[in-house]
Amino acid sequence: MGNLFMLWVAVGMCCANFSASAWSVNNFLITGPKAYLTYTTSVALGAQSGIEECKFQFAWERWNCPENALQLSTHNRLRGATRETSFIHAISSAGVMYTITKNCSMGDFENCGCDESKNGKTGGHGWIWGGCSDNVEFGERISKLFVDSLEKGKDARALMNLHNNRAGRLAVRATMKRTCKCHGISGSCSIQTCWLQLADFREMGNYLKTKYEQALKIEMDKRQLRAGNSAESGWAPAEAFLPSAEEELIFLEESPDYCTRNASLGIYGTEGRECLQNSRNTSRWEQCSCGRLCTECGLQVEERRTEAVRSCNCKFQWCCTVKCDQCRQIVNKYYCARFPGSTHSPSKGSA
Ligand SMILES: *[C@@H]1O[C@H](CO)[C@@H](O)[C@H](O)[C@H]1NC(C)=O
Ligand SMILES: *[C@@H]1O[C@H](CO)[C@@H](O)[C@H](O)[C@H]1NC(C)=O
Ligand SMILES: *[C@@H]1O[C@H](CO)[C@@H](O)[C@H](O)[C@H]1NC(C)=O
Repeated sequence: MGNLFMLWVAVGMCCANFSASAWSVNNFLITGPKAYLTYTTSVALGAQSGIEECKFQFAWERWNCPENALQLSTHNRLRGATRETSFIHAISSAGVMYTITKNCSMGDFENCGCDESKNGKTGGHGWIWGGCSDNVEFGERISKLFVDSLEKGKDARALMNLHNNRAGRLAVRATMKRTCKCHGISGSCSIQTCWLQLADFREMGNYLKTKYEQALKIEMDKRQLRAGNSAESGWAPAEAFLPSAEEELIFLEESPDYCTRNASLGIYGTEGRECLQNSRNTSRWEQCSCGRLCTECGLQVEERRTEAVRSCNCKFQWCCTVKCDQCRQIVNKYYCARFPGSTHSPSKGSA
């Protein structure tokens, strides 16, 4: 390709106080023919939405999708080949595909639109294809082009990343939904037209979180992994020997417990983290967060009372204002803290 150039798009904003390398987080190295410049902003927005979803999905986990983990290319030494790495790749790649696909359906790009290839054909009993199906093929192609091109390596890690990028894109397809509209005399719905639509991004995130929990470990020689020369030693892409696992996330290394801060590994530890306890309206998983983040990591749960001021007793006054009182409310928040007198770092937790 003659018309090749590179462009760095800073995707993540970052956390000043951890390490210098965190400043360059998640820079997207984008290479490709000039035409693709059209997509860079949307690609960056897509990757960003993937990262936000990662933060949401892991908000009450020991590993909570920190910025320094978001580097997608293999040259960063902080990066492991863990389950968490697999999630980051899948959700970023899915985010890009999702955003580009939405852009197509909205008519944001000249050269793509709805997928109307099946329109008019019978889809099943009582329905035909019609309307604007989301054009995932186009989104998939752009996501593959941009996200996969960040992967420069040829070793096991690189193959793992490419596999997980692909699994992320397959998740976008797997969560698509058929949406239908009724036709017929006075809404009798004797015939329906249907189209395929992307799920909510949240739903896709939930799907990938489940894939993360069920991720498959690929066993391989530790020295091979460290040496990073497994391509030469004949390590085949995961698809080659896991043909049924293309939708699954895969990883190569067990995760650390993420309890204890270890700057050289880029792990923050859970000391100082907030957790949820005694709050109504939270899921069981959230309810267990103090155990998971604090006590199982050898830390205690510290209660802090804070006063929150909010508007209350609002009344509508003619015309046209709303008058509210300021209500003060004591809110209890919970944080992981060391036991008093404990000088050494907390003991390792049981997973
Ligand atoms: C693509 O969609 C995102 C929102 O989903 C929007 O912010 C962005 O501007 C769109 N890109 C183009 C080129 O219109
Ligand atoms: C951080 O992790 C490395 C590699 O596992 C280990 O050698 C080192 O001792 C750890 N540092 C701390 C402060 O725990
Ligand atoms: C409580 O949960 C319901 C349903 O899950 C939700 O609609 C509502 O916004 C939640 N309320 C608060 C205060 O989080």
